[in-house]
Amino acid sequence: MPDLLPPVQADAIDGLIAKAGQRRRSRFDLKRRLSISIAGLLVIVLGLSVAAVLRNSAQSVRGEIEAVMRLADRLVGQDIASAAARGDEAGWNALLDVLDDSRHLCVQRTRAARPSNCPAPMPAEVPRWFSHTVAPPTLELRREFIASDGRVLHAVIRADAADEVLEAWSEARPLLTAIALIGFLINAIVVVTVWFFLRPVDAIRQAIVRMSRGELQPQLPRAATPELGGIVEGLVDLGTRLRQAREDKHRLLRRNLELQESERSAIARELQDELGQGLAIIDANVSLLQQSLDEDAQSQAESQQTLLLIRDSVADCCDRLRAMLVQLRPSGLSEFGLGYALQSLIGNWERHCPHIRFESQVDPNAAPDDALTQVYVYRVAQEALTNAVRHSGARHVRMEFGTARGEPVCLRIVDDGAGLRETRRSRKGHGLRGIRERAEALGAVLDLQSPPSGGTQLELWLPDSVMQVSRLG
Ligand SMILES: Nc1ncnc2c1ncn2[C@@H]1O[C@H](COP(=O)(O)OP(=O)(O)OP(=O)(O)O)[C@@H](O)[C@H]1O
Ligand SMILES: [Mg+2]
Repeated sequence: MPDLLPPVQADAIDGLIAKAGQRRRSRFDLKRRLSISIAGLLVIVLGLSVAAVLRNSAQSVRGEIEAVMRLADRLVGQDIASAAARGDEAGWNALLDVLDDSRHLCVQRTRAARPSNCPAPMPAEVPRWFSHTVAPPTLELRREFIASDGRVLHAVIRADAADEVLEAWSEARPLLTAIALIGFLINAIVVVTVWFFLRPVDAIRQAIVRMSRGELQPQLPRAATPELGGIVEGLVDLGTRLRQAREDKHRLLRRNLELQESERSAIARELQDELGQGLAIIDANVSLLQQSLDEDAQSQAESQQTLLLIRDSVADCCDRLRAMLVQLRPSGLSEFGLGYALQSLIGNWERHCPHIRFESQVDPNAAPDDALTQVYVYRVAQEALTNAVRHSGARHVRMEFGTARGEPVCLRIVDDGAGLRETRRSRKGHGLRGIRERAEALGAVLDLQSPPSGGTQLELWLPDSVMQVSRLG
């Protein structure tokens, strides 16, 4: 498929697209960005919910523990004080035992009758992070009792939050599990939705790249949203317009070349009919004059000399005219076909450049039926051979025209010269541009390259549409 743009611009655009692609790949694409942003937002919301649950749990544990400690304070203030005042050590111990047995308190005392583990460690089923967050700081009351024998007994009454924390954990756990599950579900739904709706974006991007390379009917995805639908419709419309523009350009090019060829044929006809005939008459008249002068002996030598010069000039004119005719109208093309014309083209170069070895392999049956197509192929070969002789310094030039089994028809011209180089002069030529225009007008694929091993190879692959050939295997 020929490119829409001249090669230099198309290469530049390809480069830009490749760079843009690299930039895009080095960052997150839209889908990932959206998914990550929404997941981040969800994490914040869920974090706040978890924080609220923990705060509630902590408040309820703290409230309960503070209430118990207030009660203990009152009890200790009244009953233990009166037992101490009475010197009733048994009463003191009994009261401390009551407090020690209560659910949220524990007592540590000197000379205790039973071992004390105050406060009790947190139950194993409560995660450490939860108990750290929810458990209040340890509250305690200190009291002393002077026994009748003068001993001083100490008691430390501490809040024991283990039970309350366990209770808070059993209330908070289902809530925290629900929050985690809901968060996970919402995130999954969001990610799937984002990927589903933005899935066509990649395909649209690839379609744009293909369109910029000349593929104007790329496969476009079905858009899931009106916005993407609009973009897809716009691309389809753009592709149609570009195709139309390309067809118009092809038509114009073809028309232009047709006019050029018919103009050349007209000039050739004129030159042949008018100038050729005139020169022939001059030649005939000069011959007559020569014969008549033969009879006059006096000025014979001088006149003979002049006449010879005239005849030489006329002959030279005729040669030049023939050369111009060959240039203007491919020699033998209409009379003997493309195969013959290509062979005589290379034969002509062989005669003029004996220092170059020319080779040709031309399949006379592989010629397109259309006369104009034949002229285009001939012109491409003519220009490529001229370039090989003029610019490459080649010692060996080979031309092939034909087809192998199952392959399209191809014109191939290869030289072993210096190869194509980007020089200031090379940008000014018209020959390669003419070759490209003709290839485009034919809808042919043109491949012009200089391999690293040297030389230049031109290949013109003719499309099936212009070929009505009897293919040879
Ligand atoms: N076979 C080749 N080997 C080496 N260089 C080539 C060959 N064919 C073309 N070139 C380079 O490409 C340039 C462009 O070729 P092009 O035929 O367009 O212009 P030109 O031959 O210089 O001029 P014009 O064809 O208009 O008379 C040439 O000047 C030459 O440098
Ligand atoms: Mg040229």
